[in-house]
Amino acid sequence: MKPDTFMVDQNRQISIGGVALAYLAEKYGTPLYVLDYETIVHRIKDYQDALSELTPPGQAFYAGKAFLCQAMAGLLEQHQMGLDVVSGGELYTALQAGFNPERIMFHGNVKTREEIAYALTAHVGHIVCDSMDELERIEEEAARIGCQAPVLLRITPGIEAHTHEFIRTGQFDSKFGFGLADGLADRAVKRALTLEHVLLKGFHAHIGSQILEEDPFILNAETLLRYSLGWNQSHGWWPEVLNIGGGFGVRYQPGDHPPRLTTVVSAINELLHELTPKELAVPRIFMEPGRSIIAEAGVTLYRVLVTKSVPGGKRYISVDGGMGDNIRPALYQAEYRAAIDGKVGQDNMETVTVAGRYCETGDVLLKDIALSQAAVDDLLVVFDTGAYNYSMASNYNRVPRPAVVLVHQGQDYLWVARESYQDLVRADSPYAMTLAEFR
Ligand code: LLP
Repeated sequence: MKPDTFMVDQNRQISIGGVALAYLAEKYGTPLYVLDYETIVHRIKDYQDALSELTPPGQAFYAGKAFLCQAMAGLLEQHQMGLDVVSGGELYTALQAGFNPERIMFHGNVKTREEIAYALTAHVGHIVCDSMDELERIEEEAARIGCQAPVLLRITPGIEAHTHEFIRTGQFDSKFGFGLADGLADRAVKRALTLEHVLLKGFHAHIGSQILEEDPFILNAETLLRYSLGWNQSHGWWPEVLNIGGGFGVRYQPGDHPPRLTTVVSAINELLHELTPKELAVPRIFMEPGRSIIAEAGVTLYRVLVTKSVPGGKRYISVDGGMGDNIRPALYQAEYRAAIDGKVGQDNMETVTVAGRYCETGDVLLKDIALSQAAVDDLLVVFDTGAYNYSMASNYNRVPRPAVVLVHQGQDYLWVARESYQDLVRADSPYAMTLAEFR
């Protein structure tokens, strides 16, 4: 889809959040990431409203890996969202922005000892433990610091959900978490229950990303709940929390039909109340949406710098960005929709391939897409780039990363400044210094 505030004026020019994209491109340069405040806040509210229907109320933790900067953490804090972080860097960003650590979930399949200690001393609300080695590491660090670590165990439930289908498999072969069928989960729970500085709060399972069906999410919750019942019968243990991860898909293409959150949540509510034994408290449900909060809020603006028709071949349009700011087409063959600002809705469409500026044949942003006839200096707008674009950006070819601007009610706010050439060399040691070490 497009940002909720997307508008086209009589000159076929696009505005978002009441701000003309052409104005933003002039003011901040291109490429430029633009985020719409209203879309982000609507998506946050969708999760909060849906999860508040649960008893006890659930909690959403935005997955920072989709897009994070200090201002984003501040916005999330303002709306009382939880935050899922997967590294010391994401945790630092959140804490610098004044984010409440109680609403932070610390994730990651490899956490260093330093990161575990950082999370514990910052008093994050939960740590999701991914492996036996890590469980021991958490115990050691918590003992050293003198605290109890609030832990969820990451379970691999054997639900494989991809974009258009899901299967329940016996396959648990994954680098993530503890498999149910291979007995690793059982071993982890047993061990966690004996550890003095580990407080086992519940389970977590994330079953994939850009999932377009409802059933896998419901089955995931049911699997965690039934697994918990077994532990209640054998050891009298019962979870406070079941975290069903993220993964709700968005509408990148007209054929994509995202799952309905309210349908999933009400089915889970029924399951929770049907399966929880009367004498026990119903566990809280946590969710970790990333893409479905931020993808549609974002667009990327590029300047067309080259047009070229290969005789007998394709027509190419080359822009001033590419795989450095959006790796997803090259990495996942991801497909986006786009428009030429000032030409939206014109009849004279042509099929073009939009190429990036990076020195790779594979740096193609849009393959064989129908666009209005583009000319040099036109502004290309690529939609739904809010998730996993800026967060996966690189300095390949020593190209500075673009700025991120938030728009709201006719105003624009610089969230992340464009990198400069000075930024590119900031961490470099000059050659002479390197040589001095060998003298
Ligand atoms: N929780 C966990 C434990 C995760 O691993 C992920 C995503 C999420 C939550 C958020 O999932 P979401 O709601 O955003 O689907 N780079 C890929 C996506 C990788 C997702 C990794 N984990 C992409 O660009 O499509």
